[in-house]
Amino acid sequence: MDIDEIKAGMGGITWYHKINLGHGLVTPGMDDTPTRIGRLEIPDDLTGMSVLDIGAWDGALSFAAERRGATRVLATDSYCWSGEGWGTKDGFEFARTALDSKVEDLDIDVLELSPERIGTFDLVLFVGVLYHMRHPLLALERVASVTERLLILDTHVAMLEYEKPAMIFYPDAELKNDPSNWWGPNPAAVEAMLGTVGFSSFERKNPWTIRHGSFILHAQR
Ligand SMILES: C[S@@+](CC[C@H](N)C(=O)[O-])C[C@H]1O[C@@H](n2cnc3c(N)ncnc32)[C@H](O)[C@@H]1O
Repeated sequence: MDIDEIKAGMGGITWYHKINLGHGLVTPGMDDTPTRIGRLEIPDDLTGMSVLDIGAWDGALSFAAERRGATRVLATDSYCWSGEGWGTKDGFEFARTALDSKVEDLDIDVLELSPERIGTFDLVLFVGVLYHMRHPLLALERVASVTERLLILDTHVAMLEYEKPAMIFYPDAELKNDPSNWWGPNPAAVEAMLGTVGFSSFERKNPWTIRHGSFILHAQR
C-alpha cells in the first residue's frame, strides 16, 4: 500500500490501538498503545520464538512481537472480531496489509484454546482480557495449556488492601460502566490462580501501576 492508500483506508476505521503504519502515519486509536506496550516489558529480541496474542483486537501487540523477530505470531480474538464487542476486525486486517505482516489470525474464544486446536507457544500475551472472563480460573487453565514458557499478563486489579488472594465480582456494569467486566482480583489472587494452573515463577513488572488498578506480570511455566 502506498501512503495515499493507507491514509484513505485508515480513515474509514474506528481504531482502538495506535499503530505506526509507516510513512509517518499512526492509527488514531483511543488507547495509548505505545506506552502500554512499553510497560509490558516484552523482550526486545523474540528471534526464533512463537508468540500467541490472545484478545488481539487491532493487533498492535502481535505486530510488535513480529517486529521483534518472532518466527510465528498468532493473533486471536472473538468478542470484538465477531461477537458483541466494542470493535471489529477491520483494523487488524487493514494494519496487517499496510504493514505487509505475516501475523496469522484465528477467531476463537479464550475458553476454546487448547494445544490440539492451536498448538503451544513460547510466549503468550494475555493483556487486558482476564477481567472480561466470566470464568477466570477456567480461562487461565486454557491459557496455561497453550503456554510453553512465558506468559505476559496485564489485568485490572482491585481489593488491594488484602494481602491474601481476594477477588471482587462486578455482576452488572459496576466497573467502568461495562457489563463485560466481571472480576477484580488482587495481585495475590492473580498469582495464586496462575500457580493453580501450572505457572511456577512470577515477576511483577512496573509495580507502581498496581496503584492505578493495572497489574503486569511475567509468569514462567
Ligand atoms: C481491553 S481489550 C484488550 C486488547 C489488547 N489485548 C490490548 O491489550 O490492547 C480486550 C480484548 O479481549 C477480547 N475478548 C474479550 N472476551 C474474549 C473472549 N471470551 N475470547 C476471546 N477474546 C475476548 C476483546 O474482543 C478485546 O479485543
